[in-house]
Amino acid sequence: MIYIAPSLLAADFANLQTDVKRIADAGANYLHLDVMDGAFVPNISFGAPVIAALRPHSKLIFDIHLMINEPIRYIDDFVKAGADIITVHLESCNDLDAVIQQIHKKEVRAAVAISPATPVEKLIPYLSKIDMALVMTVVPGFGGQALIPETLEKVRTIKRYALSKGLKLDIQVDGGLKPENVHLATEAGANVIVAGSAVFGSKKPRKVIESMRETADAHPYQA
Ligand code: DX5
Ligand code: ZN
Repeated sequence: MIYIAPSLLAADFANLQTDVKRIADAGANYLHLDVMDGAFVPNISFGAPVIAALRPHSKLIFDIHLMINEPIRYIDDFVKAGADIITVHLESCNDLDAVIQQIHKKEVRAAVAISPATPVEKLIPYLSKIDMALVMTVVPGFGGQALIPETLEKVRTIKRYALSKGLKLDIQVDGGLKPENVHLATEAGANVIVAGSAVFGSKKPRKVIESMRETADAHPYQA
């Protein structure tokens, strides 16, 4: 099953409630929420209070992508705000095992992300402990960038490893995904597709989501 996760970063920040409803009605599965602290990444976006304010207005899976230093300090806040999935960056945690445990203790799905410069080998030891791996297909920090095709090799490595170990693991890709290139990600083994500008930026989000899903279904993992 392919899940489409539009990123709120590309929404109309003056009309979040209506914009989220618009993409839910268009068939999105997850709402991807990019939290940036201006330190781990150069940009600042929004935090737990904004997510908590949206929570009562949406039934979408809240998929929170924390691009912040030492996220362990804020896990409880994001759980309280309504997280279904919390993703932390491997590069931003001093004790990644402790963060994963903290997320699981709250009965929230845990995911770990790697930026384009991080070798996939660093993530492998954690794959059996998490619910989802996030392979960044752009340098984190900003929406609307072009996908870096070389990053998809990491998706392939993770998929191969997960299959060889019989792991039940989702593989998410994030950055520059759109109907024209989503097949590259699904053929490599990704099943959760983040799309910010492609979906929120479109006047016809239903068309974009349907076209992404059709293309993804037509291009399953190729070993
Ligand atoms: C980048 C964020 C992405 C971003 C994706 O740091 O993690 O989720 O919003 O936006 P698009 O799909 O526009 O590249
Ligand atoms: Zn993201």
